Amino acid sequence: MTGAGSDIGQAVCLALSDQGARVRATDLDRPELSAIADRIRDAVAIPADLTSPAEIASLAREPVDILVSVAGIAHVEPFLSSDPDLWELMWKLNLRAPMLLTRELAGGMTERGWGRLVYICTDSARAGAGGETAYSATKAGLFGLAKSVAREVALRGVTSNVVCPGVIDTSTSRAILRERQRMREALMRAVPIGRLGLPEEIAGAVAYLCSPQAGYTTGQVLSVDGGLVMA
Ligand SMILES: NC(=O)c1ccc[n+]([C@@H]2O[C@H](COP(=O)([O-])OP(=O)(O)OC[C@H]3O[C@@H](n4cnc5c(N)ncnc54)[C@H](O)[C@@H]3O)[C@@H](O)[C@H]2O)c1
Repeated sequence: MTGAGSDIGQAVCLALSDQGARVRATDLDRPELSAIADRIRDAVAIPADLTSPAEIASLAREPVDILVSVAGIAHVEPFLSSDPDLWELMWKLNLRAPMLLTRELAGGMTERGWGRLVYICTDSARAGAGGETAYSATKAGLFGLAKSVAREVALRGVTSNVVCPGVIDTSTSRAILRERQRMREALMRAVPIGRLGLPEEIAGAVAYLCSPQAGYTTGQVLSVDGGLVMA
């Protein structure tokens, strides 16, 4: 479980633990990581920087049955004046890290005959969003990763799916919207359900996809966004 210290990550940790999973939580070395691990019985907190392939390799030494990839970074800026060094950082965290983790962990899942891969993406990768071009481009790679690996592992009990949050009420999105009041108002008009989503609503979708009942669901993209993107 990556990005375990984020608001969405914490909600996912709690939901999976409620479902009986023993949570291995990873994130940067930040207080939220140890706090969520302390709240969950049997949880283990493993600080790691996922832009480092070496740290990913050592993280993946222990086998896991469920990989939920939540860690991600967004820099919101007009693409035409955007900084390629920031694209590089986003590509490393948003796409290369889940690719490396999948390569390291999915083999063990197929050997054991059961596994779940869930990638947290974003509606902006499906529908586009001004100011989020580079972020969306790096996140959109998760569609190709999840769907193609789904085909490679399907016969061996492993499913692979994507969850696309819309605008979720987290500390990160609150900070972005605080400075962009007009964007917030436009969003509220565009979301049929008329409010921001809750981290727990993303966690509910992830928990379903990780459950035994979702064994016949693979290669899918599920938006959890109050109806913002219907496709
Ligand atoms: N909040 C939203 O509205 C929204 C919408 C669409 C998608 N998402 C996605 O959901 C996920 C969680 O978002 P959030 O809003 O809860 O919080 P967030 O954006 O703060 O979460 C990012 C997480 O990634 C971790 N991280 C950053 N750099 C890292 C690194 N180098 N190595 C390891 N971990 C690192 C952070 O510590 C944090 O826990 C992100 O992938 C984000 O792109 C969020």
